[in-house]
Amino acid sequence: MRILVTAGPTREAIDPVRYLSNRSSGKMGFAIAVAAAGRGHDVTLITGPVSLPSPAGVKTVRIGTAEEMLVAVRGHVPGCEVLIMAAAVADWRPKTFAAQKQKKDVTSATLELERTPDVLQSVLPLKGERLFIGFAAETEHVVEYAQRKLVAKGLEAVVANDVSRGDAGFEVDDNQVTLVTPDAAPEAWPLMSKREVAERLVRWVEQRAC
Ligand code: PMT
Repeated sequence: MRILVTAGPTREAIDPVRYLSNRSSGKMGFAIAVAAAGRGHDVTLITGPVSLPSPAGVKTVRIGTAEEMLVAVRGHVPGCEVLIMAAAVADWRPKTFAAQKQKKDVTSATLELERTPDVLQSVLPLKGERLFIGFAAETEHVVEYAQRKLVAKGLEAVVANDVSRGDAGFEVDDNQVTLVTPDAAPEAWPLMSKREVAERLVRWVEQRAC
């Protein structure tokens, strides 16, 4: 199968030296891309700024902002059968970009924000028969919020992470996820390495695609 995976954060610039972003390291998305390529799939990985090297055997596209993520995902969805959105796309960006570095000689400042494009939502018109799998990073009501995302976007699955845990989620090597699907009860997977989560998810995708 041709599988498109997204990973990492996006960065939304405030001025030439500062940005808004989040704690995503890219480990989860990269692990999925590696697992899928290892199982013989044709994999494209679109990643935000992370310190991980491009995986062997995976076409890797590096982007910076949510807007660039949207352009890259939109361009690659028509050529894939499966989209797995593990990226932590920033939800807000500064409304204006200051062309010069903002001086710190004020005691307080206010940053006006606007929503970034919702990448997954924006490519839904291209979905057709493709499998679309989202992730959900939540700190409370994890499964409930994941179910809402699943239904709102008509996805095949949402992989829900409780990112309030110290031993799973952002940055660390392990993850504990719950697979939320429309036709079965939520499936809580045990805490395991991101490599093992990725293997299990890719095998689930293979079965679901048959
Ligand atoms: O990168 P790691 O350090 O390994 O951490 C992994 C992870 C915790 C980042 C990953 O497992 C994860 O949960 N990724 C999704 C994080 C997220 O953005 O969740 P969300 O609930 O805000 O978004 C829901 C879905 O919509 C996600 O599939 C996201 O990619 C997508 N989205 C979100 C915002 C946006 N503007 N556009 C989107 O497409």
